[in-house]
Amino acid sequence: MKPISPSVETRFPGRPSSDTDAILKTIFQIFPDLLFYLDEHGVIINYLASESVNFFTSPEQCLGRHVLDIFPPHAAAQVLSAMNKTLQNGEISTIDYEVSTSPQKLSYSINCLKIKTSNLILIVRDTTEQKRKADLAEQHRKLMGTLQESARQLSRELDSQVLGNVITQACVEYLGASEVWLGWLKIGQGMQELTYLSTGSTKTSLSKPTDNEINTLLVNKLAILETSDPGSNSQPYSRALFPILANNQVMGVLGLVVEQADFFTPEMIEYFIAYNSLVGSAIQNAHLYEDSRRQLSQMQTLRSIDQAILSSMDMKSMTEIILKEVAKHIHVDALSLLILDPKTQMLNFVDGFGFHYETLRHSHLRIGESFAGQVALEKRIVYVENLQNDPKNFSRAARFHEEGFMMYLGTPLIARSEVRGVLEIFQRRPFEPDEEWYTMLETLSNQIAIAIDNTLLVKFLKDSRLELTNAYDATIEGLSRALELRDRETEGHTRRVAKMTVELARRMGVSDADMPLVHQGALLHDIGKMGIPDAILLKPGSLLPDEWEVMKQHPLYAYQLLAQVEHLKQAMDIPLYHHEKWDGSGYPYGLKGEQIPFPARLFSIVDVYDALTSNRPYRSAWPVDKTMTYLQSQSKIFFDPAVVPVFRQLILRDTIPMRRDARSHSKTTPIQQLFK
Ligand code: C2E
Ligand code: SIN
Ligand code: SIN
Ligand code: FE
Ligand code: FE
Repeated sequence: MKPISPSVETRFPGRPSSDTDAILKTIFQIFPDLLFYLDEHGVIINYLASESVNFFTSPEQCLGRHVLDIFPPHAAAQVLSAMNKTLQNGEISTIDYEVSTSPQKLSYSINCLKIKTSNLILIVRDTTEQKRKADLAEQHRKLMGTLQESARQLSRELDSQVLGNVITQACVEYLGASEVWLGWLKIGQGMQELTYLSTGSTKTSLSKPTDNEINTLLVNKLAILETSDPGSNSQPYSRALFPILANNQVMGVLGLVVEQADFFTPEMIEYFIAYNSLVGSAIQNAHLYEDSRRQLSQMQTLRSIDQAILSSMDMKSMTEIILKEVAKHIHVDALSLLILDPKTQMLNFVDGFGFHYETLRHSHLRIGESFAGQVALEKRIVYVENLQNDPKNFSRAARFHEEGFMMYLGTPLIARSEVRGVLEIFQRRPFEPDEEWYTMLETLSNQIAIAIDNTLLVKFLKDSRLELTNAYDATIEGLSRALELRDRETEGHTRRVAKMTVELARRMGVSDADMPLVHQGALLHDIGKMGIPDAILLKPGSLLPDEWEVMKQHPLYAYQLLAQVEHLKQAMDIPLYHHEKWDGSGYPYGLKGEQIPFPARLFSIVDVYDALTSNRPYRSAWPVDKTMTYLQSQSKIFFDPAVVPVFRQLILRDTIPMRRDARSHSKTTPIQQLFK
């Protein structure tokens, strides 16, 4: 309880009666701010005040004055009507008012109550602090609302720059900041400015932290606060640097300047910590989204390159698509693509863009010759920061120096551990690639290498005069083995399933004349997996939905690939339909029952049998009996019910007599030995 002020009686002996005095004291104990006791005319005849009361005038000087004279006019009118109301109905009335004094606004709340017949007591409470807190709470509420709105907006825009603008704008509008700086940590580049906003009279850039301050923030994770010197004559200000945390790491800094001294009170700071944690997760989400958008666009690039791989026979149109995609995703002034001719071992220029002259169009380089030759020889990136320092390397091209290139970067295109070509990048201005750029380049060059590889393969197929040959299967096996080279786990799988499928087809009454197509189709069944990126094909775990969508393209890829080769078209049934299921739940078309071509219905049970009894990057081999139980359970669901018992007979007849011998060979299942 605050101390009661010096005895009322000593100053005004005899004026109020002692019971009035007792009432006053009791009230004062409950409202220990300021009490005025008025006579029936409204003249202040007594008061009680705590020492700490902050009334705009000294209570003592109010004694003997009419109550309406002591309040400023706008407050006096309210006080008068409150007093009249209380005098009339005897109830307590309340008014709130504000008085502007330098340096701050004071707020008061007055309760007016009647004692005796016509004496009033005014209870004056200083509500400045309370009001300030309420205003602040309102401000916070608005700010939080803004942020939530911006978060909602964000889920549509998801652009960290837009978000940054929303945040700085909110700080200016709702906090009255005159200057805001928002920085965000960029990997490898330190704290980078995201947005800066200044509305104040002074463009001081005071909200921007110094390098030292950033280091302190990163280490301490605590706000840095500063306020103007009260003695100084210059414009008062408060300055604060708040760390923005995400996952308990300092990810950014919010710097604020407000043209008011001592603005950052403890509650304000507490509020900002909460605010900044929202800002932190919002910006992080924005960045995550930007990353995934970039990855998505990268994926689309890969898809169009995949399309090029599978739909285009000729090297020229394939490279055109590739170069266009590369240019779209990495910033380059000029680009050239050299492909290694496997026969002559020469690197030949096939395409490029961004050159002013025809300068490099006639490049034919031996391995080891010039930068590109060096890239191919050493199978690594060659990066030259400034070509001007090293002009002799492009003596191969007339007028090369007139292109004005500065940076050179050559990257090898490697597929199945063989160099297929070199991609060369030129920049006319200084250019320092960052990690992300390199990652994109690496992904692109892998795709290009696969594209070249496949194009060479198809060219080889075409050149092999397949239409006439008896060496047909040899070629096809060569082709299917190209996939085995990538996907080592499936080694031997192709030849095993081809043999088993032919045997099953014989038992199901397929004629000898049709047998070669069944055999070839089985050999080529997964050739479409050539179009599946390593990251998915060789993934050790289960596939994510996006990855699965890519994987499910493999029958269609097979179709696109094989449709180009006249005689292979007839062997298409198995590659295209081997993942259709009897109940219609398969892919790519969801065919049902006898809609599925018969060879594919024969093949799918063999394929699943062999897949399950083999190790895969994503699981180890199942035992034969578990596999057979599974296949039986899938009759009419996955497999043609007419095929299942015949396949069962085939396996059991062949397996049972061999079981005894096979026991000691832990890795190989009996059926695998049989079909070796
Ligand atoms: P794959 O490994 O040669 O499997 C061929 C088919 O055998 C599969 O077609 C599926 O019908 C059956 N199969 C293989 N393993 C299992 C298994 O563990 N459980 C069951 N119930 N059936 C199995 P599907 O499902 O259309 O898959 C096609 C290809 O997609 C697979 O060829 C494989 O290359 C890839 N794939 C499927 N699932 C995964 C996975 O979880 N992770 C990875 N990395 N690849 C997968
Ligand atoms: C292989 O068989 O391993 C290559 C193609 C395929 O999986 O069928
Ligand atoms: C395989 O068939 O050998 C693996 C999965 C698939 O058939 O696509
Ligand atoms: Fe398949
Ligand atoms: Fe297969």
